[in-house]
Amino acid sequence: MIIVKGGNICKNWLVKHTAVIGAQWGDEGKGKIVDFLASKHDVVVRFQGGNNAGHTVVVEGEKYPLHLLPSGILYQDKICVIGDGVAVNPAVLVEELASLKKRVGKTAKVHLSSKAQVIMPWHVVRDGIEGERVGTTGRGIGPVYADATGRTGIRVMDLLNAKVGREKVAERAKWNKRLIETLLKHHGVRAGKKLTEEIGAAVDAKRVWEEYKKLLAKLKKLGVVVGDTGELLAARQAAGGRILFEGAQATLLDVTHGDYPFVTSSHPSLGGVYIGAGIRPKDLHVVGVAKAYATRVGNGPFPTELTNRIGDKLREVGHEFGTTTGRPRRCGWLDLVALKYAARVNGFDSLAITKLDVLSGLTEVRVAVGYTHSGKRISSYPADERVREKVRPMYKTFTGWRKDVSGARKMADLPMAARRYLEFVEKSLGVPIAMVGVGPGREELVRA
Ligand code: GDP
Ligand code: IMO
Ligand code: MG
Repeated sequence: MIIVKGGNICKNWLVKHTAVIGAQWGDEGKGKIVDFLASKHDVVVRFQGGNNAGHTVVVEGEKYPLHLLPSGILYQDKICVIGDGVAVNPAVLVEELASLKKRVGKTAKVHLSSKAQVIMPWHVVRDGIEGERVGTTGRGIGPVYADATGRTGIRVMDLLNAKVGREKVAERAKWNKRLIETLLKHHGVRAGKKLTEEIGAAVDAKRVWEEYKKLLAKLKKLGVVVGDTGELLAARQAAGGRILFEGAQATLLDVTHGDYPFVTSSHPSLGGVYIGAGIRPKDLHVVGVAKAYATRVGNGPFPTELTNRIGDKLREVGHEFGTTTGRPRRCGWLDLVALKYAARVNGFDSLAITKLDVLSGLTEVRVAVGYTHSGKRISSYPADERVREKVRPMYKTFTGWRKDVSGARKMADLPMAARRYLEFVEKSLGVPIAMVGVGPGREELVRA
């Protein structure tokens, strides 16, 4: 069992399972925290999202960007599960696993849910046409989840049955051809898109079926086991195993609780665990991961965004460029209003604050403690996105610190100014900080 000891709040938990949940707009460093916690668990599970995620694990200076594989994949003795709620692009999974095996040899054993929705080529095309306003990753996420809830999706199990698979692909390809032609009529002229050869290939049923059949065979060759992963997790839980649930994206990108419509199409908040894993984990500790500042990729409200020299500095020092798309991330101060909201939605038991090292060298560090809107003070995250877009942050300012913190391993190693900053975050949220990231490497972590 892991014991998480909070800083000032000083609580101890004895827990069996852990969920790691993004507390901001994604890219908080969930991959690093999962990689660290994986050593204390038996199974690591992705439960939502798809290859829109980009999770980075850094071990001995080697960087491993992961999109679909859980961040416990580098531990040979663990089980990694791609659960029921994940949207899977088989081509990406084959490529990711094959190249990782080439690089490191043996990896954790991978199990893929037969219930998982499959990202088909037409989902990617539709995302390319429709995703512009939100600024999506273009990986087909919105369309695949739209089809899932519209009950027209193709699941992994469908592809395992040649008759069912061929028929479903044929029917869906025909429908999507017409849909894409209509979408292009509406969006295409402005976007300058036309039914190119590539789009034609994406809805060519025969070609797509042959390709996906081969991909499933390749997954089998790579040792991926396809089946009822909920059953596997239930059996592991019953046998006393410890399960680590790895959230992708983040609370403020949740399709229900995030900055709708500037969100992803799944449930990255805690509720997603229960739907996307297929079990109710008993005795679960929920870790919210937040950067010591804030970033966002894509469009949507960002009250504390810094479009000045400090924002540029955070981007440069923090290497804030997307792991999936390479897009520059928007950077800003930590927003405690938004973070409190995330703590409410997920009921965080503890926090992991990452990238504290990136703030070193700033003369002052700010944190939003409230907003104003139309001359009125707001202390909670507004439900109405029209208000979210217009709020102005109210800041508390802290003295910065010069010292390089990357060698710190316990709270006492951190400069007093950094500790004051963290203590304020902890007290404001009423959630203890259990871990503080001081560098990208696996070992660059302060434990409370
Ligand atoms: P995720 O999507 O939440 O897993 O986060 P990403 O991997 O997309 O982005 C986080 C980036 O910050 C990655 O490049 C990590 O290697 C890096 N990182 C994680 N924690 C720390 C930290 O404490 N300090 C620094 N400097 N980098 C970190
Ligand atoms: P990880 O797991 C940051 C953002 C996109 C866009 C919106 C919708 O690495 O934290 P989508 O392709 O999901 O339909 O895009 O969500 N987005 C992310 N931003 N980190 C991510 O994942 C993201 N996944 C999606 O930029 O604004
Ligand atoms: Mg990321």
